[in-house]
Amino acid sequence: MVDIHCHILPDLDDGAPEERVAIEMARMAAADGVTHVVATPHANYRFAFDPALNRHKQEALQHAIGDSLHILLGCDFHLSYENLEEIRQQPSRFTLNGHQYLLVEFADSGFPSGIDQIFVDLLAQKLLPVITHPERNPLFARRPEMILKWVEAGCYVQVTAASLQGRFGKKAMQAAHLLLQHKLVHFIASDAHNTSSRPPLLSEARRTVAAEQGEEAACALFEANPLAAIEGRALPWQPEPVPLPRRRWFHFRR
Ligand SMILES: [Fe+2]
Repeated sequence: MVDIHCHILPDLDDGAPEERVAIEMARMAAADGVTHVVATPHANYRFAFDPALNRHKQEALQHAIGDSLHILLGCDFHLSYENLEEIRQQPSRFTLNGHQYLLVEFADSGFPSGIDQIFVDLLAQKLLPVITHPERNPLFARRPEMILKWVEAGCYVQVTAASLQGRFGKKAMQAAHLLLQHKLVHFIASDAHNTSSRPPLLSEARRTVAAEQGEEAACALFEANPLAAIEGRALPWQPEPVPLPRRRWFHFRR
């Protein structure tokens, strides 16, 4: 499996606090059947993002763990004015493994103004935004139709593996399953931060998806699609979204 969202690099953000934890996270991921992890430090008002430092930490971690797991670089990209200015100049600083896919995180407090135009501009730049864990975000709970609109515009969606097991609460779990059923999920990733409360594990969620949606969907969401993203290819699995009848979204509200 390929994990495109993981805060594994030590002492950078709210992920692994030190290298010992990062090494243990790598060991857990490899034992769980993960072959590649994209290290995606935050780039937001709380955490500075320094590609040279990230590269240095990635190389040190790769050296420490050997070739049991491949560590690549990406970013958990916040849609701030400064970040958007920077990505216009140098997109590969932020994208997954330097290709065209870009993890996009929303704050819980409100959509940035001009968000539709932000996505239009990123897509025009040949970048492919991947909206991270909408199932955990109250903004989407109130405006679920936004997900469908942006997927139809060319964005993709990543759900957090642990949401499917209810580890972010019942509402996030219901939302994650609804998104899956309505073909609005393209990636499932760990968004791991440590070895305990937010571990880098995917296999349990993969079994859940295989039981619910079939092996083809599980393979696409955990292997084929994320592998294509880190290799800079078009996603092999892009099902037609099934619009959700509005009355069903009440499960989704807080
Ligand atoms: Fe994250």
